[in-house]
Amino acid sequence: MKLIIDTDPGVDDAMAYFYAHAHPQIDLIALTTTYGNVTIADATRNALWLGEMSGGCEPVYQGHAVPLKIEPHPPADFVHGKHGFGDYEIGTPARNAEAEEASDFLVRAAREAKGEITLCAIGPLTNVARAIEKDAGFVSNLAQLVIMGGALEVGGNVGAYAEANFWNDPHAADIVVNAPGAGRIVIVGLDVTSQIEFLAKDFDGLAKVSPIAGDFLRQIGQFYMNFYQTKTGRLSCHMHDPSAIIACLHPELMVMEETALGVVSSGEQIGNLVRREGGGRKCHIAMGVDAGALLAEFKRIVGLNP
Ligand code: BDR
Ligand code: CA
Repeated sequence: MKLIIDTDPGVDDAMAYFYAHAHPQIDLIALTTTYGNVTIADATRNALWLGEMSGGCEPVYQGHAVPLKIEPHPPADFVHGKHGFGDYEIGTPARNAEAEEASDFLVRAAREAKGEITLCAIGPLTNVARAIEKDAGFVSNLAQLVIMGGALEVGGNVGAYAEANFWNDPHAADIVVNAPGAGRIVIVGLDVTSQIEFLAKDFDGLAKVSPIAGDFLRQIGQFYMNFYQTKTGRLSCHMHDPSAIIACLHPELMVMEETALGVVSSGEQIGNLVRREGGGRKCHIAMGVDAGALLAEFKRIVGLNP
């Protein structure tokens, strides 16, 4: 599978990255960056660094710095740390981002390898919406678009209604879930990701089998779990972005509903993902998950990293 990840790294983004990097069936061809957990500059720096420390050295294309219409929210430093990786200091990467802007790259890559590329978007959807605005055939040119975002029948993780990625750019999210064409769109939101709990002992186990990548995840996971502990009382975290990456190859681990969707773009429920009446574009949204199988798959593959 040829894969591009659109990402705002981020602790769980890094977890997703090391799954994709190690998977023998995934050809990770590029990373595109978005703001959200961190600023766009930190997202790009972190993406470059992940590529260097893993040896993957995927090209990195920097994306848009702010949402389409709303004022940007501050980075979620209280969730992911000041620069995205908890208290871990990564230093300066040796490489730079590519000159091409992320949405231009996405449009070009999808056109040049029509039907071959899976795009997994695990941050705010600004780059993906801009790609659709530039090329109405963008989603149809992909093999599939898999998104981490939204909360359909469960509460939000930013206030009562919204999930963080959709809340950061609700207009972009609405454009994407209503994208023209018949290309496959899969949404993996809080309805399933909040059912999957990764424990401190799971990070410890990863560090044992993977002393470089796994130990890095163990270290940055501490800050992330500390945040969760203030919300849930448990030293653990939810598997948001890793679940979306796993759904790219293993949709059979989830129960999907096919439905038309929209995203509320103003008012009290801004960022809320809702079912939309009428015809038109439908997405596949994950409403159930085999959490045990997904966790086992994550540990098995991430454990292949050095
Ligand atoms: C999403 O928001 C970010 O904090 C995570 O990286 C994930 O993409 C979860 O709501
Ligand atoms: Ca993310």
